[in-house]
Amino acid sequence: MASTSKPDRVAWIQGPAAHCDPIPEALAQPWRLILLGAPGVGKGTQADLLRQRLRACHLSTGDVFRAASKQNDCALSPAMKAALEYMRRGDLVPDATVWDMVRERSACLRCGGGFLLDGFPRTLSQAESLKKLMEGDGLPLTAVLNYELPLTEIVARLSGRRTCEKCKAVYHVTERPPQVEGVCDRCGGALYQRDDDRPESVTVRMETYERSTAPLIEFYKKLGLLLSVPATGSPEAICERTIAALAAWRASAPVRA
Ligand code: AP5
Repeated sequence: MASTSKPDRVAWIQGPAAHCDPIPEALAQPWRLILLGAPGVGKGTQADLLRQRLRACHLSTGDVFRAASKQNDCALSPAMKAALEYMRRGDLVPDATVWDMVRERSACLRCGGGFLLDGFPRTLSQAESLKKLMEGDGLPLTAVLNYELPLTEIVARLSGRRTCEKCKAVYHVTERPPQVEGVCDRCGGALYQRDDDRPESVTVRMETYERSTAPLIEFYKKLGLLLSVPATGSPEAICERTIAALAAWRASAPVRA
């Protein structure tokens, strides 16, 4: 069933001292999904559509770093300051910093509503750490969605992206424009272009993806969790394709999570 209210995800974005409102409802069979794919393939867009259909929370590590980058410099730890520099260049943040940040928020992974992990894991070391944590807690992953698209289309998506500074909703200047230029339809917040969508950072991000993140495809294939989805067509068409693939996935192995 679709949910129209958007969970505020504050426990994820601000850390465990904050409490989500509303707290996601516990489900009998929650979806615990990872979204894989190159930068700009549309993971965040799909996570936003899927969370309305699957009632699982959208947990993006990139959103946590971008929220930190809006804070006063004095409020940031030295590790977080260094992390933001890596992000601006388009490089990956070091595994130890990312893992500290995720482990601190592990209650979000245990949430009874399930999760859509977007942007994590991104290296084999992160994937191994997550696997250990989830096995230790007896929380099986449902599947790993791998979105596939040719590079030229990905670059076009990135160069036109605009993001709401308040609610993080994602738009595209031609493919998914807001009703009023520069203003978020959902909350009225200002739309901005991300620092790492500049051409020089995009090149670094693509190379980093090939080197560090693409090997995860093989990792999850070996675990029998990989579900590849073509990312062509409109966001709504891709979402429908994903929902159909997930339904077939669960039906083909009912004992699966
Ligand atoms: P992160 O925020 O995770 O960025 P990313 O993986 O590079 O992915 P993007 O957010 O760029 O793209 P997306 O696939 O979500 O696409 P979107 O839906 O926006 O990470 C940013 C940085 O943080 C990293 O570079 C790194 O430094 C650091 N970081 C984060 N996690 C880390 C980790 N685990 N380890 C280390 N470092 C980490 O769509 C893109 C555009 O296309 C939008 O404009 C959208 O409107 C448009 N669009 C979407 N779908 C369609 C469609 N079907 N048709 C036409 N246009 C579409």
